[in-house]
Amino acid sequence: MIRAHLTIDPHFTIGQINRRLFGSFVEHLGRCVYDGIYEPGHERADEDGFRTDVIELVRELGVSTIRYPGGNFVSGYRWEDGVGPRDARPRRLDLAWHSTETNQIGLDEFAGWLRKVDSELMYAVNLGTRGILEALDVLEYANLRSGTHWSDRRVANGHPEPHDIRMWCLGNEMDGPWQLGHSTAEEYGQLAAKTASAMRQIDPDLELVVCGSSSAQMPTFGDWERVVLNHTYEHVDYISCHAYYEPRGDDYGSFLASGVNMDRFIDAVVATADHVKAIRHSDKTIDISFDEWNVWYQSRYNEVEKITDVADWPVAPRLLEDSYSVLDAVVFGSLLISLIRHADRVTAASLAQLVNVIAPIMTEPGGPAWRQTTFYPFSLTSRLARGVALELKLDSPMYRTELYGEVPLVDAVATRDENGGGTTVFIVNRSLADEVSLEIDVMALGRIGDAAAQSLFDDDIHAANTLHDPERVAPRTNSSVQVGDGTVTITLPPVSWTVLTFD
Ligand code: AHR
Repeated sequence: MIRAHLTIDPHFTIGQINRRLFGSFVEHLGRCVYDGIYEPGHERADEDGFRTDVIELVRELGVSTIRYPGGNFVSGYRWEDGVGPRDARPRRLDLAWHSTETNQIGLDEFAGWLRKVDSELMYAVNLGTRGILEALDVLEYANLRSGTHWSDRRVANGHPEPHDIRMWCLGNEMDGPWQLGHSTAEEYGQLAAKTASAMRQIDPDLELVVCGSSSAQMPTFGDWERVVLNHTYEHVDYISCHAYYEPRGDDYGSFLASGVNMDRFIDAVVATADHVKAIRHSDKTIDISFDEWNVWYQSRYNEVEKITDVADWPVAPRLLEDSYSVLDAVVFGSLLISLIRHADRVTAASLAQLVNVIAPIMTEPGGPAWRQTTFYPFSLTSRLARGVALELKLDSPMYRTELYGEVPLVDAVATRDENGGGTTVFIVNRSLADEVSLEIDVMALGRIGDAAAQSLFDDDIHAANTLHDPERVAPRTNSSVQVGDGTVTITLPPVSWTVLTFD
């Protein structure tokens, strides 16, 4: 049996875990909004046309902040199209996803839905094809009580209370050539700085996110962050990171080590932000909003799903509807481990996305809603990762990967709730073939009453939950846990994600 060893000491803290780490993302893309959260004819729809079965699952998932309305979509979006009487709202081309946007859901309806799921709105403004004035207009519409053109329009539209949006994204992926209005770091940095400072003239306490790179693989990565932050440093609070992972062929060894790539990405962005801080002699520290992350079979989108026919602009087409396997969920769980490990600097994150589109929740029009495999690591981590993140001493055997060199077979992070919630360890075993026996030194935690664990694994790592078999995969009790004198041991199945809690 392969062995690994872990030491937990509650004195070694990384930082407080911000609830915003468990955010998500709803974009007007495919069936995320229409036929996803909103399906007026469905038997479970409420009086506003929102599916109550989806609302229940979103609440169970435990998402804090939800980024909206895009994504690439936002760079062609006119926010005014989505407010006011529904029958007067225009149908528009959505160039990002080659679809037709009906505008039946907009800012007011989405803010109403967020109240039902008990989440906070994080709103992205269009800095691709629009600019400072439109950002000011939507801020005035959303946040001012009344007495001005746009705030009175909101009141007249039936929403007397301001939406009070605190977090705002200054555009989306402006470094990407696919983005409408894609620009250089210089151009974007200047526009973002001017937009941020104008928005702060309305409300200095807004929390503003400037666009970082669309991925660490972008040719401009690193320099983009440096230039953009140099323009915006004193005006913003966060820089964004985006990362999607998929296996290359059957190189599952590298895929399982995706968290190593995420760790390096975060470390590089933190280093760049702190470099700009140093050269600007600033006292302020910029945090990371990791506002798009997931497993995404992007090659399938590019090669099979992408709509290009000039005569074909469907409403809510089936796009990016990846079905997630056990293998995907284990990688997904390891990405959460990586985010928590950086809790001192990653203080907001958004799982991209929430329903139907690369999502933990799937729906069938007129039919059921179900949990994908990735639902479980997210819901359990969101529920159990409370308090502070702890720095661990981990001794694990290593293995070689094609993409990232030598990486540890086992990865883990622990959290400790100082308000009596106990200690929780999140662990991934990346081995494709072997069980690992993990011994955890818990001497510094004092007496351990009880320990319990759940693991997500399967003999078939490609098993998934589907419309016809929606409960095929779920976490199972891991009964191998043994509490000894100052130690806890557990056996981790191959390709598994585990959560272990101590009283
Ligand atoms: O989440 C899907 C897309 O991925 C988003 O619209 C875009 O921001 C990113 O490239």
